[in-house]
Amino acid sequence: MVKKYYIKTFGCQMNVYDSQRIAAILRNLGYEEASSVRNADLVILNTCHIREKAAEKVFSDLGRINLIKQERAEEGKDTIIGVVGCVVQAEDKEISKRAPFVDFATGPLTYHRLPEILAKVARKRGLSIIDTEFPAIAKFDFLPENKAEGGLAYLAVQEGCNNFCTYCVVPYTRGIEYSRPVAEVLKEARHLVETGSVEINLLGQNVNSYHGEDENGKERNLAYLLRRISEIDGLKRLRYTTSYPADVDDDLITCHRDLPKLMPYLHLPIQSGSDKILKAMNRRHNSSDYLKVVEKLQQANPNLRMSSDFIVGFPGETDEDFKATLDVVNKVKYIQAFSFKYSRRPGTPAAIMPNQVEEKVKKERLEILQDLLFSYQLKFNKECLGKIMPVLFETKGRHAGQLIGRTPYMQNLHAKLDKENLNKIINVKVTDVTTNSLSGEPV
Ligand code: SAH
Ligand code: SF4
Ligand code: F3S
Repeated sequence: MVKKYYIKTFGCQMNVYDSQRIAAILRNLGYEEASSVRNADLVILNTCHIREKAAEKVFSDLGRINLIKQERAEEGKDTIIGVVGCVVQAEDKEISKRAPFVDFATGPLTYHRLPEILAKVARKRGLSIIDTEFPAIAKFDFLPENKAEGGLAYLAVQEGCNNFCTYCVVPYTRGIEYSRPVAEVLKEARHLVETGSVEINLLGQNVNSYHGEDENGKERNLAYLLRRISEIDGLKRLRYTTSYPADVDDDLITCHRDLPKLMPYLHLPIQSGSDKILKAMNRRHNSSDYLKVVEKLQQANPNLRMSSDFIVGFPGETDEDFKATLDVVNKVKYIQAFSFKYSRRPGTPAAIMPNQVEEKVKKERLEILQDLLFSYQLKFNKECLGKIMPVLFETKGRHAGQLIGRTPYMQNLHAKLDKENLNKIINVKVTDVTTNSLSGEPV
């Protein structure tokens, strides 16, 4: 009987990419995808450690999966449970303690060793395998070739972060920065396009600090990579995420002027509008540096619209600091954004800073911020009414004969279209909008 796998993914797009690569490894081993945990011989949780809630979710999910494992055991079926990703790197001991029924755990930089790990699990059960090494040789060298799974493809070009923002676990879970060589990235990009992808989103925890070597051993920046990739025939759209404001250089800015394939939407997290808080966060930019970068980018491409991440209630944040964040929102008028209450992460410097902000205050500030962000989001969506936009359709909608896709500005758009149009870019006239999505008719 063919063995089946089920992968559940938490966290960022890098984890989505990793899960796709894990699935490819498993398919090479002869596994097929299961429709649910119930039908899976191997269940993998790809985990996120960024906020307390994300990490706790993993443990509650593991409890549920263990129940299914027991039910399956009564039917004589074996289930292997694996945990991968950022929680493993940070909490391997916690996993052995709280979820001893897990069969293996491997960090985000070592999952390429899955074939050996699964072979070991077959010989010895119980959590005897925990792999949290930061290996010297990058996992990318061992992964199976990345093939298009749809019109949109993720491509990791950089991993890890050297910024050590005082609230953040990523430098500890993903390690220091590593940039993949240019030739390797180009090869993967070409293969993705040859196999059907029309849009590529280059990923990295700090993607614009990319400094991979080219064919002659020369270090190249993200702008160089974007130019080379945009030359690929058949590729229609290019994006990159996530960028660090202080690392946006002039070369990258000119890409937004010169590369028509580069979409007019950029995620550039500021976190806070208060210079005092940005300093305490160890960000290498203040609010005016940030606003200058946005201005330059929008001069390079006047159609460019911004999105961001925000944290409210960082230790020491006063009403005045919070107001500075609202001021930035009113200036940049983000068309989308993610905002979070500060979450204390064990081992990070901010977790032990004095003047932690009360939960109640965090909640109030988050509501105020989100109301403001949503108002700009809705305003922009309304400006799109009646416009014709090219939409890449990625998934089926809830209703029959409906597809959901993304506009150049990353808005979700629903349209009545049959499934032959999946993974294609189609011009759609926007007929209706809400804060979170658009609907339209193909033209
Ligand atoms: N590398 C990216 C994003 C990393 S995590 C960047 O630097 O922008 C995604 C977002 O989670 C961050 O931008 C931040 O807004 C949020 N985040 C990270 N740590 C957090 C914490 N301890 N509490 C609340 N939000 C956090
Ligand atoms: Fe975390 Fe800061 Fe690095 Fe982003 S730049 S991953 S927030 S340490
Ligand atoms: Fe989460 Fe790790 Fe991504 S902590 S946000 S999955 S880098």
